[in-house]
Amino acid sequence: MFGLLLILGGGADNATASDTAKIMGPNACAECHKQETEAWKSTHHFKTYRAMPRDAKANEIAKKMGVRRIKSESLCVNCHFTLQNKNNKEQFVAGVSCESCHGAGQDWIKVHSEFSGKTILFETKAEAQARWKLADAKGMIRPRAFYQLAKNCYGCHVVPQEDLVNKGGHRAGSDFELVSWSQGEVLHNTWHSKGRANVPASAARRRMLYLVGLGVDLETAIRGIGRAKTRWLYAFEMAKRADRARKQLAAVAKAAPDVPEIAEIVKYAHAAGLKLNNERALTAAADGISKQLIAITEKYDGSTLARLDPLIPGPEKYKGVARKPDN
Ligand code: HEC
Ligand code: HEC
Ligand code: HEC
Ligand code: HEC
Repeated sequence: MFGLLLILGGGADNATASDTAKIMGPNACAECHKQETEAWKSTHHFKTYRAMPRDAKANEIAKKMGVRRIKSESLCVNCHFTLQNKNNKEQFVAGVSCESCHGAGQDWIKVHSEFSGKTILFETKAEAQARWKLADAKGMIRPRAFYQLAKNCYGCHVVPQEDLVNKGGHRAGSDFELVSWSQGEVLHNTWHSKGRANVPASAARRRMLYLVGLGVDLETAIRGIGRAKTRWLYAFEMAKRADRARKQLAAVAKAAPDVPEIAEIVKYAHAAGLKLNNERALTAAADGISKQLIAITEKYDGSTLARLDPLIPGPEKYKGVARKPDN
């Protein structure tokens, strides 16, 4: 029902919920990824599994929405939990987990980890490239897939359900920015350093996270306005979000005049009125932004975008603290 097709189509309602039959669950990843799993266990993403259903505010929201059991209602599930279909039964296996961000694993778990059937020393460079290409094709979302990663974060961190906000009293979304929200408690770059360090994103990578994140913020908010039916909280919040993102992107465009794609995004941002009953024009604008963002990820790696640095939030803004690996 959901899944990658939607992400790639750029029209995701909630890009995160994957095909539940292809979810392996975090224990399947933990077998090899011990440090990454430990880091994940200290995040809100992990803890929401137990904490949210017991939260007073959660029960208030649920009551207003007519939801009787939070864990059995699809309304909350896609953003707060990981559902796995085992023996034709849907089961809750975790909060927001590995596959919520990296894609449902069944089709790529073996591919990505088996060094083309050799040992790491004997796999040729060409074989390794082919392996990663195959893993991508089978739905793995790797750290370098900036656009898909960002779509997943924003698929949950902006709440595109009008009723849930207006009637349920749920927040319309987080004050989310991709650098500051990925480099704090969420950071688990412990694999390629063999567990020696939790390595922060490089300067070039932070530029890409910042730029693509802002673009996806705008894209998501514009789609969100397209869905609004009433002049009330949800519509206002989405419009505020879109307006803030387009102002930030205008500043980015000014700082990097040599990146024509950013100027295009700013144009699209003003191509459709941020108002009700305008879904067709808003969707077209969001689709345009999406195309430009994908083009950016294909053309740039951040190394030439140093002029964005003064705009990018520093460590004092990071959400939570990155876990130090135990050695
Ligand atoms: C059998 C062991 C094994 C299992 C199980 C496993 N992985 Fe991996 N994973 C690896 C290996 C080995 C690599 C590094 C391959 C390389 O560097 O060429 C890796 C690399 C990765 C990377 C980094 C990719 C990159 O671009 O650098 C991610 C992300 C990842 N795995 C996620 C997962 C997730 C999510 C799961 C569970 C659904 C999982 N892995 C299950 C062994 C495993
Ligand atoms: C579109 C995704 C999405 C859906 C659907 C969703 N949530 Fe959330 N929820 C979030 C995100 C993201 C946060 C974290 C917000 C933050 O801290 O920035 C959150 C936070 C919360 C909080 C803490 C809120 C607070 O005000 O401090 C509660 C409680 C909650 N959600 C309950 C629910 C319940 C109950 C449902 C189902 C009726 C639900 N959520 C559906 C994404 C969602
Ligand atoms: C909230 C989304 C999210 C969740 C949940 C998540 N990851 Fe990641 N993962 C990322 C992002 C984003 C990066 C790249 C971070 C960066 O840019 O610094 C990453 C990087 C990685 C890497 C590369 C590490 C390295 O050393 O370069 C591995 C391996 C990985 N994740 C595995 C996992 C496993 C296993 C789980 C579950 C235990 C998991 N991830 C849960 C988003 C997530
Ligand atoms: C499947 C939905 C989902 C995805 C995908 C997701 N998140 Fe979240 N995230 C949540 C929810 C729900 C919460 C709130 C959990 C709680 O506190 O109960 C949250 C909380 C957080 C927090 C803690 C916020 C705080 O209050 O301190 C951070 C940081 C965060 N997310 C970052 C990210 C990043 C970065 C990504 C993408 C790489 C991402 N998230 C992807 C649903 C998601």
